[in-house]
Amino acid sequence: MASTCVVGLQWGDEAKGKIVDLLCDQHDAVVRYQGGANAGHTVVADGVTYKLSLMPTGILRQGIDCVIGNGVVIHPPALLEEVEALARQGIAIGDRLHVSDRAHVILPYHLAEERLTEESAIAADHLGTTRRGIGPCYRDKVGRVHGVRVGDLYHPDLFRERLDRIIAYKNRLLTAMLPDFEPFDGRAVADEYLGFAARLRPFACDTVTWLHQALGRGRRLLFEGAQGSLLDVDHGSYPYVTSSNSSAAGIAAGSGVPTRHIDRWIGVVKAYTTRVGGGPFPTEQDNEVGERIRRVGKEYGTVTGRPRRCGWFDAVAVRYAARVSGSTEIALMLLDVLSGLDEVRVAVAYEDDSGGSIPEMPGQLADLERCRPVYETLPGWPDDLTGARSWSDLPAAARDYVRFLSKQIGVPVSIVSVGPERRQTIVIDEGR
Ligand code: GDP
Ligand code: IMO
Ligand code: MG
Repeated sequence: MASTCVVGLQWGDEAKGKIVDLLCDQHDAVVRYQGGANAGHTVVADGVTYKLSLMPTGILRQGIDCVIGNGVVIHPPALLEEVEALARQGIAIGDRLHVSDRAHVILPYHLAEERLTEESAIAADHLGTTRRGIGPCYRDKVGRVHGVRVGDLYHPDLFRERLDRIIAYKNRLLTAMLPDFEPFDGRAVADEYLGFAARLRPFACDTVTWLHQALGRGRRLLFEGAQGSLLDVDHGSYPYVTSSNSSAAGIAAGSGVPTRHIDRWIGVVKAYTTRVGGGPFPTEQDNEVGERIRRVGKEYGTVTGRPRRCGWFDAVAVRYAARVSGSTEIALMLLDVLSGLDEVRVAVAYEDDSGGSIPEMPGQLADLERCRPVYETLPGWPDDLTGARSWSDLPAAARDYVRFLSKQIGVPVSIVSVGPERRQTIVIDEGR
């Protein structure tokens, strides 16, 4: 066994892309198992910046196969655009991409359906999604009646017939609910999607069989989580979550590979916390500290460009997420961003308004909203960390901060990142 999972332990954007890119050297294929074009991973390699969304990060490395598993939701024009954008940057995909024929397809009405709630007059309905049609597509998947899978696109007559029925239903619903709605033309949508399907034909396959054959040949798989464990539909801050199992819990269902094949469980965290979109965020710093982190960390969404909400590291939330995702090691990212602060804070517990202890991450939104963080304050460090290449290059206060986080999470930190470039990475020896 030498397969690995890389999963975010916060609310997304933990710099999973950088870690996956680094670990490609030790793997043969990168597998996405959930989410879709809501993900935005930025990877900087040799001074060149790449933006990835639906595409597994392994695509940047020649010789690495990339699998978009059955648990992913695919918007074909988004995927095709990404293929073209990568080609413009000189990344050849060739026969390295394998897209599950069981993956569900995002259709234009999913984007319209998302507007129903995100633009509703009822502010409480707004989740602050990425508006990529993710939620409505997963809803149709589990609802079964209206789900469309990649494989359906290769049965054109059946697809046209089915899409006609689905679109008649969606048009009735959307006309009643959206004032400016222009009904979809079933035939035009079918033509367009059959066109996409023809272009995706070389990639579409049974990825479950592909993955098991790869394992049989001793290939090492790298499972790349999108979003983060706190956005998991079951385990996250529901309903302010995404619509998939974005913790490690999604791997088996979303790829068809049982997790007994995985022996390295990496949880990725930032040295602080960010969140995009709505939802509770106990350690949020809506003040100059948060603004500073946003400025130094360039904390703006890759997909939507929205400013990310920023705050202190939340050890209660990460401890919980590490448990759910089974993390046995932590990659601690963006440590350099905290340089220059006089002191750094870490939430080590929660309490309610009257000082009563809340020992664990609450499952109910109302309870999470009541949580007040109990902070431990540690000394900051003035030094620029971006040139550090070994544990001993880090100033003592930064090392103490890393040790403190590791102890709080209850999982060892094995990688520290001090900049976006591949080389700005410190691998920590076991014996430190
Ligand atoms: P992902 O969605 O988890 O892959 O993360 P994003 O790509 O959305 O956000 C992480 C951002 O931080 C990207 O712009 C990376 O280039 C950048 N980044 C990664 N590691 C570091 C680091 O250690 N320090 C700094 N300053 N930036 C980093
Ligand atoms: P990566 O892979 C950060 C957030 C959205 C919103 C919620 C639901 O780059 O870490 P959705 O469009 O999924 O229905 O939105 O989830 N969200 C992310 N936040 N990083 C992501 O991906 C995210 N993908 C979705 O902002 O709050
Ligand atoms: Mg991101």
